[in-house]
Amino acid sequence: MKAVIPAAGLGTRLLPMTKNSPKEMLPIVDKPAIQYVVEEAVNAGIDDILIVTGRGKEVIENHFDVAYELEKILEERKEFEKLGEIRRISQLADIYYVRQHLPLGLGHAVYMARKHIGNEYFALMLGDDIILANKPCIKQLMEVHEKYKSSVIGVQKVEREEVSKYGIIEYEKVEDGVYRLMDIIEKPSMEEAPSNMAVMGRYILHPSIFSFIEKTKPGKNNEIQLTDALKAMLKEHEIYAYEFEGKRFDVGGKLDWLKINIELALKRDEFSELRKFIKDEIL
Ligand code: G1P
Repeated sequence: MKAVIPAAGLGTRLLPMTKNSPKEMLPIVDKPAIQYVVEEAVNAGIDDILIVTGRGKEVIENHFDVAYELEKILEERKEFEKLGEIRRISQLADIYYVRQHLPLGLGHAVYMARKHIGNEYFALMLGDDIILANKPCIKQLMEVHEKYKSSVIGVQKVEREEVSKYGIIEYEKVEDGVYRLMDIIEKPSMEEAPSNMAVMGRYILHPSIFSFIEKTKPGKNNEIQLTDALKAMLKEHEIYAYEFEGKRFDVGGKLDWLKINIELALKRDEFSELRKFIKDEIL
């Protein structure tokens, strides 16, 4: 299965950090955010990844490319550990790029992948969502897809007050954690929301989604919304939702970006002093 990672967003919630740097390249401890998403795909067995980029995102391509001069210098200096890590990044997967010329919305960004994907189910992974899980989140969805042979959307419950930040689903339980989608609404108000089960940036999609996107008019925020195309697809195809295991961070916003940095840094032995620093000098 191929994966698509849209990375064309402007990152306005992270300004001024993102004034001249793509949000996907912001560091989370010592790796750019998008590398976590690529590694999630790779850890799920995916080796063909299409990243949808746009103006100013060229550094993403360089990050996953061979850095010949850097490799040569590290080799000369016998810094083999660093060299291995740098090389590993350029060998993670076959990564392809396509540009979204105008920021017309997530649905439109996904539509840019139609030719690369062709006529197969594909994994869609949004770069703003980083999910720390025992089993890669997209792998969990792939397993549900294997069983039900349909499109599957990753969901988790959110606080009622938070529903207007997400695609929200109406559902019927099929088995523990697996639901049949009845409806889906992009960023509803608390009153409109059919539940508090929110779409969390991981999808396995039937390729017919592209023809539904084609017919989708601009929706919320005047953007072509993937959620609206899914709603249309639901009339003709069964779609399932899976409440995946894992802790999800919205790194397209400052608070979660800070949180995941702290959480991942505290897990690393080399930063053991950080815990003491926070306890003794901050709290
Ligand atoms: C997108 C989707 C939304 C989903 C969210 C998850 O919104 O449109 O349905 O719940 O990602 O992060 P965005 O956050 O890009 O506005």
